[in-house]
Amino acid sequence: MPLPELFLQELKLRNDLAEIASSYVHLKRSGKNLVGLCPFHNEKSPSFHIYTENNTFYCFGCGAGGDVITFVRRIENLDYWEAVRFLADHAGLTMPENTMDDGMAKLKARVLEINREAARFFHAQLWTPEGKPALDYLLGRGLTVKTVRHFGLGYSQDSRFALVNHLQKKGYTSYEMIQSNVAVESRSGKAVDRFFSRVMFPIIDLRGNVVGFGGRTLTDSKPKYLNTSDTLAFKKSNGLFALNFAKNNHQEPLILVEGYMDVIALHQAGFSSAIATLGTALTSEQARLIARYAKEVVISYDSDEAGQKAANRAIPLLRDAGLQVKVLAIEGGKDPDEFIRSFGEQGATRFKQLIEASGNDMEYRLNQLKKTCAMDTPEGKVAYLNGAAELLAALDNRMEQEIYAGRLAEEVGIERAAILQQVNKNQKKFTASRQKREFREMQQQISGMKDRVNPEKQKYLRAANAEEGLLACLFRLQDQKLAQQIYQELPPEKFCTVFNRRVYETIMGRMMSGGGCELADISGDFSVEEISAISRILAKFDMLALSIQDAQEYRDLILQEFQKLRAEQLETVQPELQQYLQKLREQKK
Ligand code: UTP
Ligand code: MN
Repeated sequence: MPLPELFLQELKLRNDLAEIASSYVHLKRSGKNLVGLCPFHNEKSPSFHIYTENNTFYCFGCGAGGDVITFVRRIENLDYWEAVRFLADHAGLTMPENTMDDGMAKLKARVLEINREAARFFHAQLWTPEGKPALDYLLGRGLTVKTVRHFGLGYSQDSRFALVNHLQKKGYTSYEMIQSNVAVESRSGKAVDRFFSRVMFPIIDLRGNVVGFGGRTLTDSKPKYLNTSDTLAFKKSNGLFALNFAKNNHQEPLILVEGYMDVIALHQAGFSSAIATLGTALTSEQARLIARYAKEVVISYDSDEAGQKAANRAIPLLRDAGLQVKVLAIEGGKDPDEFIRSFGEQGATRFKQLIEASGNDMEYRLNQLKKTCAMDTPEGKVAYLNGAAELLAALDNRMEQEIYAGRLAEEVGIERAAILQQVNKNQKKFTASRQKREFREMQQQISGMKDRVNPEKQKYLRAANAEEGLLACLFRLQDQKLAQQIYQELPPEKFCTVFNRRVYETIMGRMMSGGGCELADISGDFSVEEISAISRILAKFDMLALSIQDAQEYRDLILQEFQKLRAEQLETVQPELQQYLQKLREQKK
């Protein structure tokens, strides 16, 4: 069921995009609009625009765009209904009843319920005779019962139907279980448990929902950890393990580790700001999420080669998100869990010392670089300085550059000015190539050449441009009489591109029934990507004055293009038709 019209209008009225966005983005006025650094991708020159006239946004760098609801969907990682609820709360509005009828939202709610039920089920197993080996395993790894409860750890029995049967009794269907990824479909089409004979780590999102699981084998079987695949309620690349706890503790810095067990051991030792990714490498979304809860992060990955590589990849992502980054070094190939345990009672104290001794990311990278250079030869020193000058050039902070140049000068015995000169040279190159890249991306965005939402655009460029022009007019003019008139002369079938036709039908549908047709009015009918594509159209026409006459001209153009296309199609179809008839005749003979 769609949202009641009155509620939607009230929601729009009480939620000003500029106000909402300004708690995530630093905005500056530019003419009638506002601009800032885009919160949806990393950039140095601002291409994120807020159009105050129609309460929409568009980023010329990454193409993200939309109305206030879409903004919240993107930035808070919510689906449409959750975003509406978020804004209703923000504005002190009560959600209308029965609006959760939307199929996807319903299924997602079921997925969340199943996850919660499964977590309860797994947890309860720990205290049964069957689950005793798992509990012993956890206690044997140094966890206390309190910690086991705090994290809601559990056990999935050695059975293919334990959870499935339990959920079935609670009224969940096989389809819902499979959608939740706690079950998989067997060859005979039945739902069977996905997790069995594993210690279960529930993954909890920032709102306290159980969204997925990591399951660790108790033996040597592979994989060591089995994780929930992405579902309606879970996206691995967006979440962080234990951030639900860490965000409330306001402990700085956040400690980023690799494994679930590392997080848990650290929390037990009093470091409740430890978090981990969910079995994948850190993404820029996760880096931005971290930056919302902390200013500083300490990477505390395993000291093996894989861990160090992962740290090197994580550093620029975290820096670009605006975080100060430190890197902690554990000697002897241990992970934080093993480190803490190896010191027994002293574990927490020793780890604290490690944090305090951890160098920042630049020191860490310079050290790593140095290890690869033969520092007792002139060539080695030159290689070191060249590499260092490149690393320093990537810093945007002059003060930092000067400090490190000073240290390097002393270390290698060469003038600081010489090092800085090299840094400057690199920096110019670096900035130029970044600007070029950002500019190119912007060009591609605005031309719509990489348009995934409307792939037919390239084929029917003239028609698609006219369609976009007409859509922009309809959005801008909000003129019901004009809409009616245009609709009579231009039925949706005459649109060449399927996506624009759908937008046209949606707007017209609302206008004919007396509803509003601003972006926020239709954003529930489209995906976040599709709304971005519509915002691109609005942004493209933002600078132009659009009149009734323009709308009529675009209408005529669309009609012309349609005729032309039909004529072309007839030309190609007719020979084929004749061939076919010919064949029929021959067959009859
Ligand atoms: P580790 O193997 O370092 O995990 O993998 P760990 O937490 O130290 O495991 P223990 O101490 O042996 O129990 C780090 C993380 O990588 C993911 C998991 O998220 C794990 O916590 N991982 C690892 C997987 O997703 N699948 C695997 O098969 C292995
Ligand atoms: Mn470990």
